[in-house]
Amino acid sequence: MCPVTVAYAPGKVILVGEHAVVYGRPAVALPVNQVRAEATVVNAKEGQGIIIEAADLGQTFVLGRGGPSGSLHALQVTVAGVLQYLSLSLEQDLTVTVRSTIPIARGLGSGAAVSTALTRAVAQHFSRELTPAEVSRLVYEVERIYHGTPSGIDNTVIAYERPVYFVHGDKPETLAVGRPLTLLVADTGLASLTREAVDAVRQAWRRSRERYEELFDRAGSIAIEVRRAIETGDVGQVGRMMDENHGLLQAMGVSSPRLDSLVAAARYQGALGAKLSGAGRGGNVIALVSSQTRDRVERALISEGARRVIQTEILPSQGRTPAVTPSLGPAKPCCAMT
Ligand code: MEV
Repeated sequence: MCPVTVAYAPGKVILVGEHAVVYGRPAVALPVNQVRAEATVVNAKEGQGIIIEAADLGQTFVLGRGGPSGSLHALQVTVAGVLQYLSLSLEQDLTVTVRSTIPIARGLGSGAAVSTALTRAVAQHFSRELTPAEVSRLVYEVERIYHGTPSGIDNTVIAYERPVYFVHGDKPETLAVGRPLTLLVADTGLASLTREAVDAVRQAWRRSRERYEELFDRAGSIAIEVRRAIETGDVGQVGRMMDENHGLLQAMGVSSPRLDSLVAAARYQGALGAKLSGAGRGGNVIALVSSQTRDRVERALISEGARRVIQTEILPSQGRTPAVTPSLGPAKPCCAMT
């Protein structure tokens, strides 16, 4: 067993297809490496049990050796889940610390990223390497407990750390990237609660099933087209599809005046496409930009009230071929020191 292990996981954005993906349609998501979650596992003195410190929240949780057996926090469930998966006892003496630069409840996958970093760190601490598919499955189980009926796209893109084409229930496909994509991710400063937004869409779907099925079908066709456009390097078409997808999300009732005004500002300054990303209502807007429009779109987003703008680039080297070690990928197999 390593004395100290550190592992990471990136944030994510949904490029197209959110909400429809919950209803079995395809969607495309991208990792965001500019923000990340980090988990550290350290051996502790005998008899301590497992102490999990959420450094950013100032909260501490205990597991094993007399820890709580009732309702557990997602961090406790994550650690228990990976130990059980590896057939290891919960009777361990470990101090686990998680911290994250991913804003919470902004559609950037902070919960799934923290669970992913934690899952990797615990496994690697016991010198066990999990595949992205295994990490994704373990994190999905945690997501299901705390987020209702997630499609599984968040845990998938974060665990694979590659652009993914995702259909619930199918093996995820990582995408080849024909030409670089530069995205600005603008934070509205407003919370986007996935469970609430997904519940609201479900209620609306129950009331107007036919109309929502049509919206989901069109979003699914957009995802198929975006996959083709990413692979062939047709960046303009990716942008046009993002614009159309935003219209569908408005029609689903998950946009808001703040999201719409950021989208309009980005387009007015020449973004190739712009839309809300994730569950909506709050959260963030993504804008596809070129090197000519990047700075002025960013300025427009800030002057329209965005709290923060992250620039992220998806490069051909991050795509399916050639395979490379992801920039923030799993920590070294063992004993990566802080
Ligand atoms: C959240 O990132 C995306 C949603 O489609 C929910 C999900 O897929 O689980 C809104």
